[in-house]
Amino acid sequence: MSTEPVNEKLIAVQVNGESQEAVVESRRLLVHFIRDDCLLTGTHVGCDTGNCGACTVLVDGKAVKSCMMLAIQAEGTAIETVESLGGSDGELEALQQAFSDKHALQCGYCTPGMLMSAKHLLERNPNPTEAEVRKAIQGNICRCTGYVNIVDAILEAAEGSGS
Ligand code: FES
Ligand code: FES
Repeated sequence: MSTEPVNEKLIAVQVNGESQEAVVESRRLLVHFIRDDCLLTGTHVGCDTGNCGACTVLVDGKAVKSCMMLAIQAEGTAIETVESLGGSDGELEALQQAFSDKHALQCGYCTPGMLMSAKHLLERNPNPTEAEVRKAIQGNICRCTGYVNIVDAILEAAEGSGS
């Protein structure tokens, strides 16, 4: 029985400011490249079907569900994952601190995706309304919190930015 040759490609990307290169199967999802090749396991896989948003990262500044993108499609891009947040000394940045202060997480499974969607929003709109916050995280599902504290945290982070 013959087997199909594996179609592999070399990709080079920036992940959290560091160059990463890997030979990946053409069908490999970006989320698996991030978790298994880059060993950045803060990006979660909740569904693998584009529904939950736990895998959200920024690709060239745009919020992307990384289970909906092939790794080879990210060639040449700059990717930011949840590990890019905060200082190198472990200090939390305003958004993370607000999630902590407002009890915006329980199990934490959705949190990396929520944080990256919120970061994407606040970079484009530093002073969002509650409706704009809710719209920004509409692709991120949380089974624990009921969203109220998450929305409050994002609004608090926006206020704290002084914008
Ligand atoms: S794991 Fe990507 S949207 Fe759920
Ligand atoms: S805190 Fe548990 S899924 Fe959001």
